[in-house]
Formats: sequence, C-alpha cells, structure tokens
Amino acid sequence: MLFKMFFCKLSCIFLILLFINVCHCSQRVLRSWINPNCGEICDKKNLTTVWLRADGLNDTLHYVWDFSGSPSVLMAVTSRSAELEIKWEEYVLGKSKSLRFTETPHYTFGIVLRKIYEFNDINDTGLIDTVDASNINILHPRSFRWDRTFFSKTNELVELHMEGHDYNNAEDKISRRGKIKLLFNGFCSLNHSHITPHMLHSENSTQIDLIIDHLQTNTSFLQSRFAIEVLLVSEGNSNSTMIIDGKKTLDDEHTPGIFEVDEIRTPNNNYDNGIQKMGAYIQWKPVSYTTAERDVTSSTDLIHYPLIVSYNHTKAMKNSLLFAFYDENVTQLLVQKINVSMGLKGDRFYKKTNYTTWTFIVGYGTPPDEQFSYLVIMIISIGIGLPLLIMISTGLYLCARRFRNQDSNVLLNR
Ligand SMILES: *[C@@H]1O[C@H](CO)[C@@H](O)[C@H](O)[C@H]1NC(C)=O
Ligand SMILES: *[C@@H]1O[C@H](CO)[C@@H](O)[C@H](O)[C@H]1NC(C)=O
Ligand SMILES: *[C@@H]1O[C@H](CO)[C@@H](O)[C@H](O)[C@H]1NC(C)=O
Ligand SMILES: *[C@@H]1O[C@H](CO)[C@@H](O)[C@H](O)[C@H]1NC(C)=O
Ligand SMILES: *[C@@H]1O[C@H](CO)[C@@H](O)[C@H](O)[C@H]1NC(C)=O
Ligand SMILES: *[C@@H]1O[C@H](CO)[C@@H](O)[C@H](O)[C@H]1NC(C)=O
Ligand SMILES: *[C@@H]1O[C@H](CO)[C@@H](O)[C@H](O)[C@H]1NC(C)=O
Ligand SMILES: *[C@@H]1O[C@H](CO)[C@@H](O)[C@H](O)[C@H]1NC(C)=O
Ligand SMILES: *[C@@H]1O[C@H](CO)[C@@H](O)[C@H](O)[C@H]1NC(C)=O
Ligand SMILES: *[C@@H]1O[C@H](CO)[C@@H](O)[C@H](O)[C@H]1NC(C)=O
Ligand SMILES: *[C@@H]1O[C@H](CO)[C@@H](O)[C@H](O)[C@H]1NC(C)=O
Repeated sequence: MLFKMFFCKLSCIFLILLFINVCHCSQRVLRSWINPNCGEICDKKNLTTVWLRADGLNDTLHYVWDFSGSPSVLMAVTSRSAELEIKWEEYVLGKSKSLRFTETPHYTFGIVLRKIYEFNDINDTGLIDTVDASNINILHPRSFRWDRTFFSKTNELVELHMEGHDYNNAEDKISRRGKIKLLFNGFCSLNHSHITPHMLHSENSTQIDLIIDHLQTNTSFLQSRFAIEVLLVSEGNSNSTMIIDGKKTLDDEHTPGIFEVDEIRTPNNNYDNGIQKMGAYIQWKPVSYTTAERDVTSSTDLIHYPLIVSYNHTKAMKNSLLFAFYDENVTQLLVQKINVSMGLKGDRFYKKTNYTTWTFIVGYGTPPDEQFSYLVIMIISIGIGLPLLIMISTGLYLCARRFRNQDSNVLLNR
C-alpha cells in the first residue's frame, strides 16, 4: 500500500518534471524598462529605476527596483491594463504622489534596505544585539554612489546588477572605500535560481542578492561584522503583525549543507469586500557566503532577529520610493522592520575574506514548496520498498511451500 503510494508519487513527479522540461511554458511574460519616459533628467543624474512588469493570464505583477534614495522594491498587483506613471521632476526631489499606477492596485508590498550596521563583535558571539552602541556604526545605503553595471532582459529572465561605492555620508562625516553590490532577478516560472544558494522561486517572485565586497571597516573595530536592517511595508491592518518562521527541508540538493528556509509572511487578514486577498512574503536560507565561489566550505551563518513594529511610518519610509508612492496612506499600512546579521561565533569575522552575502526572495501569494529530489525519492522508495518486497516474497515463498507440503501430504494420504 505504502509502496504503491510512493510509486505513484514518484511517477507523478516524473510526469510533472517531464511536462515542465518539454513545454518550457512560462506563467508570466516579462517586460522591463530602465527609467521609463525619463530621458535627460535621469541620464544627468545617473539614476536607475527599473520597472518590471510580469503579465499573467488574469493579472499583472509590477516591480519597481529603485536607487534614487535607499535601495527599495515596490511590488504591486493590478489588472493587466494598468501602467506605471512617474512624474520625474517631482520624483527626483522625493516628493510624494510622484509615482502611481493608472489603476488602483489590488495589493501592494514594499521593502527598503534602510541601514547597514557594522558592529565590533568584541566577545565573538556573532550577535549584534549583545553589542553596545559605541561598538556599532550605522551606514545608510543611499549614501553610496550607485552605478548600473549590468542589465539584461528577455521575456523569461530580467537581471540587473548595481554597484554602490564611494560611501560618503555628510551628516556623520563617515566615508568608506569598497563596494556593496545588489543583483536583482525577475522570473517567469517555477525554477531554482542560478545564483547559489539556488533559492526556489515562482513566477510571482523576484530575487535580491546582496554582497558586501571589500567594504572598508572602521579601523578602531578589530572584529567587525555586518548586519542589515530591512523595512517591510504591506497593505493591511496596521494593528496586525507579520509572521516569521523557519521551515526545515528534507534534502539539501540545491543548497549543500542547508536544511532550512526562513520566511516572513504578511498576515492573511486582508479582506476586500469580504474576499480574502493574497499577501506577500520574503524568504531566505540562513547562509552567507564568504567568497565569490560560494561553496559549502566558504559559508557562514545568517542570523535574524525579531520583527519590530515601526510606529512612525513617515520617518521610516522617508528617502525611499515607498514614500513617493504611498503618500497620505502611510498611516494605514502595516510597517515592520527586521535585522539580519552575517557571521557566526568563531568564523574569524568579516576581515577573514572581506566578502559576505545575503540572498532573498520577495514574492506574492504563498511561497512555493520545495519538491523532493530524485535522490531522496529513490532513497525513500528503496528504504521502504525493499524491506516490503523482501517481506512479500518471503511470505509468498512460505505460502507456496505450505501449499506444496499440503499437496504432497494429500498425495501421501491417498
Ligand atoms: C555615471 O556613471 C558612470 C559609470 O557608469 C560614471 O563613469 C560617471 O562618472 C557617472 N556620472 C555621475 C554624474 O555620477
Ligand atoms: C482567470 O480568471 C478566470 C475567471 O475569473 C478563472 O476561471 C481562471 O481560473 C483564472 N486563471 C488563472 C490562471 O488564475
Ligand atoms: C564581553 O564580555 C564581558 C565579560 O563576559 C562583559 O563584561 C562585556 O560587557 C562584554 N562586552 C560586550 C560588548 O558584550
Ligand atoms: C531553470 O534554471 C536553470 C538555471 O538557471 C536554467 O538552466 C533552466 O533552463 C531553467 N529551466 C526552465 C524550465 O526555465
Ligand atoms: C501566482 O499568482 C497567481 C495570481 O496572481 C496565482 O493564481 C498563482 O497560483 C500564483 N503562483 C504560484 C506558484 O504561487
Ligand atoms: C569608527 O567608530 C567610532 C566609534 O563608534 C566612530 O566614532 C567613528 O566615526 C568611526 N569611524 C568610521 C570611519 O566609521
Ligand atoms: C488599531 O488599534 C487602535 C487602538 O487599539 C484602534 O483605535 C484602531 O482603530 C485600530 N486600527 C485598526 C485599523 O483596526
Ligand atoms: C515622525 O517623524 C517625523 C520626522 O521624520 C516627525 O516630523 C514626526 O513628528 C514624527 N511623527 C510622530 C508621530 O512621531
Ligand atoms: C490611498 O487610499 C485611497 C482610499 O483608500 C485609495 O483610493 C488610493 O488609491 C490609495 N493610494 C495609494 C497610493 O495606495
Ligand atoms: C537592529 O540593530 C540595531 C543595533 O543593535 C538596533 O539599534 C536596531 O533597533 C535593530 N533594528 C531592528 C529592526 O531590530
Ligand atoms: C580584509 O581587509 C582588511 C582591512 O582592509 C585587511 O587587513 C585584510 O588583510 C583583508 N583580508 C583579506 C583576506 O583580504
């Protein structure tokens, strides 16, 4: 019975995979523009604002990847006919209402990379929340000079590479050499990303890969590590809270050594005329790579801290695309923030390689579930199937022998 079930599942998955491999069908068609309808204003200022639209059968998912302020992403779900409108003169000044969709979106979600923390991990705990304020420096991602180093687009994959360098913050007079890189991907179907840790994405998600690459550290900090503070903004009741949890996976085929996925979901209590609306999620694996090769030997932990409610929404979103978009509705949003830090007790700190990463997915709806790999299915099938097969065949053999004995007894009795 069990064996039959596994066999059925096995063949089902084979069939599904065959189907995917044969038709390459994409669930959404991607189209994208850099600085749509901007022209000279953006060229002069070296601005990068990418609008990506992923058209499905019934709806369109829009993403805006923006670097005019703090790096941010806006995701909006609309009907297929909605367009994005940016009033560039006002937008570059950070004015509200300067960015809108031609139709009211069904749902919107946004994230902002608000701060990068450098902390001096004196006691080598790997935890930022044990370090006092004098051992923490705050860097503002908007104070990097952002350059677009690569952009490629097809109907099936969009890729944008940004490089922030020459950090210079006038307020606290901190400047740093070195880089921070952000790689964005837009997808059209369910697949694993080509970037390690090979996160599973769907047609409803984008991936963001952050690399802190030889960023100069504070000379008075001998044991520096980095952490990131991300702001999460969702439509929905501002009194509710997002949900954070970790899921264990059974196999590590795609990310060697990592058996966990962490995720934050917006609460499922957004109702529109009584109809439950889908929310958003972000998802990552608790691993940070310390070299560009990204193999299992050059990795360390990524640690996350509790979600915190952000009370002053205006202050939190200022200097980002989200402020330009949400405007008078800011108070009606659910706004939370979270810290993640890179590094683990005993890994010899950032200076060991001067390289650290964080890869995460931002998506709409429910996160896709990882399927069992062929290997695991085979192991399970053999593990349960083989003993079962042996039991059945010994059973049959014993039965057969008994019958033969009975038959010969009958013969003898005659
Ligand atoms: C714009 O970016 C290019 C490299 O992408 C750089 O050479 C140039 O100096 C930048 N211009 C300004 C005004 O920042
Ligand atoms: C599109 O909408 C129609 C009618 O509302 C529905 O029957 C269909 O299942 C939807 N298709 C997808 C892919 O959501
Ligand atoms: C490091 O540990 C010592 C002793 O355990 C403690 O007194 C000190 O406050 C710790 N320092 C930090 C920055 O956590
Ligand atoms: C899935 O991703 C891999 C690696 O990026 C790529 O080679 C492959 O063509 C993709 N498969 C589909 C069905 O798009
Ligand atoms: C993507 O979103 C659409 C609705 O916009 C939904 O019908 C579909 O099931 C979602 N796909 C996945 C893999 O979650
Ligand atoms: C280094 O850290 C100290 C103490 O937090 C701070 O006063 C100083 O400005 C920092 N220097 C740089 C270059 O970040
Ligand atoms: C949130 O809570 C406050 C105080 O408990 C209440 O006055 C307000 O109406 C609530 N807002 C929503 C949208 O439920
Ligand atoms: C929120 O922060 C802004 C500064 O960015 C300030 O002007 C405003 O008074 C604050 N609002 C509240 C309710 O604290
Ligand atoms: C702000 O709220 C109003 C009323 O709910 C809505 O019509 C408008 O589209 C919202 N604006 C944004 C940018 O979400
Ligand atoms: C992140 O860590 C810094 C330094 O410990 C702290 O000031 C800040 O409040 C934290 N933010 C969140 C969202 O936990
Ligand atoms: C990392 O940077 C620090 C300070 O700039 C330097 O002392 C150290 O040698 C660098 N490490 C590597 C592996 O390049």
